Amino acid sequence: MADNDRMEKLVSLCKRRGFVFQSSELYGGLGSVWDYGPLGVELKRNVKDRWWRSMVHVRDDIEGIDAGILMHPKVWEASGHVAGFADPMVDCKTCKARFRADKLADAQCPQKPSKHPGDHTACELTEPRQFNLMFRTFMGPVEETAALVYLRPETAQGIYVNYLNVLQGSRQKVPFGIAQIGKAFRNEITPGNFIFRTREFEQMEMQFFVKPGTDEEWFERWRALRWQWCLDLGLRAEKLRWHQHLHGELAHYAKAAYDIEYEFPFGWNEFEGIHNRTDFDLSRHQQYSGRKLEYFDQERNERWLPYVVETSMGADRCALVVLCDAYHEEQVEGETRVVLRFHPSLAPIKAAVLPLVKKDGLPEIAERIYHDLKGRYTAFYDDGGSVGRRYRRQDEAGTPFCITVDGQTKEDGTVTVRHRDSLQQDRVDAARLVAWIAERVAA
Ligand code: GAP
Repeated sequence: MADNDRMEKLVSLCKRRGFVFQSSELYGGLGSVWDYGPLGVELKRNVKDRWWRSMVHVRDDIEGIDAGILMHPKVWEASGHVAGFADPMVDCKTCKARFRADKLADAQCPQKPSKHPGDHTACELTEPRQFNLMFRTFMGPVEETAALVYLRPETAQGIYVNYLNVLQGSRQKVPFGIAQIGKAFRNEITPGNFIFRTREFEQMEMQFFVKPGTDEEWFERWRALRWQWCLDLGLRAEKLRWHQHLHGELAHYAKAAYDIEYEFPFGWNEFEGIHNRTDFDLSRHQQYSGRKLEYFDQERNERWLPYVVETSMGADRCALVVLCDAYHEEQVEGETRVVLRFHPSLAPIKAAVLPLVKKDGLPEIAERIYHDLKGRYTAFYDDGGSVGRRYRRQDEAGTPFCITVDGQTKEDGTVTVRHRDSLQQDRVDAARLVAWIAERVAA
């Protein structure tokens, strides 16, 4: 069941603590575009870094690329996006609003009292028409059809058109993969749920090129790997499930597809898709470009077009999953404690350094410790207000360790480390702190 209250609290915390702000709020906001603040940008960067490390750095069989957002318009003809990347829309001739034809039951008519489109006697809905979701712009000084280009609606095509370049410029052989993280744009008609569905977002996509006939085995292998990656983020297993695409649901390019879904406060929804894209994309680019994209298999002296297993996750949607999973409210000593229980490797701030009082030489020691830590990871120095208050502020930021410098520090060189989740406090030798935290932050 939808938990609107929980979602509202999370959105409000994200704004208050500097995770996510509405774009151009000063001017009334821009629909479904969001800006990441100081904590949010660290969180999303940590998500992307974990993904990149697991795909590109740890594995020998995946290369990374960073392709342009603007691509030759023929790319989108070949991929099928010009003809088919569309939602069916209906317009209301009375109120001039536009709705997705397949989501009328979820939409609200702007007329009062609030009802679904078509439910007012004055509503006059048109027949559904296809509305392409790609943003269009013009390259160069002349706004004419010949200069039309699109903002990419997925990063995957940048990988397909570079597949031969990467193959030739690296020592890879099929099976191998290409990974990319980058912005994508979709003129979504029913965006919403905060950063879940937006018009500008980032994708983390990997296309794995395999020999036809081995694709189903690789598809299963990638399903297992991606599930484990989600668990390694510290997500609760009971909040994750698979959704298999059945025939009516499969994208035009896919032979098989599964989504990993998360139980958001607004219900179960996809945040990663794993697709067996067959040789659809390469064969279309071969056809539209007139260039051969076949792989030469030296061992068998054969040429064939590789099949592709794709893993595709939204970085923003994954950040939302991490935020939803981390958000907890609990009663501590008669007060409600709001805490973000991020995996330490994802936490925007790894450690906060708090001098117990602003005198007796404690701030000087605390500042030294803070500067030592800051050379290695994100740290925060806070000497304002009671220690209890400062702990609560760090709980809301999801900081896993709070380091308090007190009178005993002057005597024996130890500090108190307070653990965000268990609230347990340990004495740790200040000289060992950098290594002590590094061990716990390591993924
Ligand atoms: N290349 C395949 C592809 O783009 P998709 O299911 O359309 O497949 C993949 O998108 C992932 O990208 C989704 O699982 C989601 O995490 C993210 N995504 C898609 N549209 C999005 C949007 N409008 N806002 C935020 N994330 C989006």
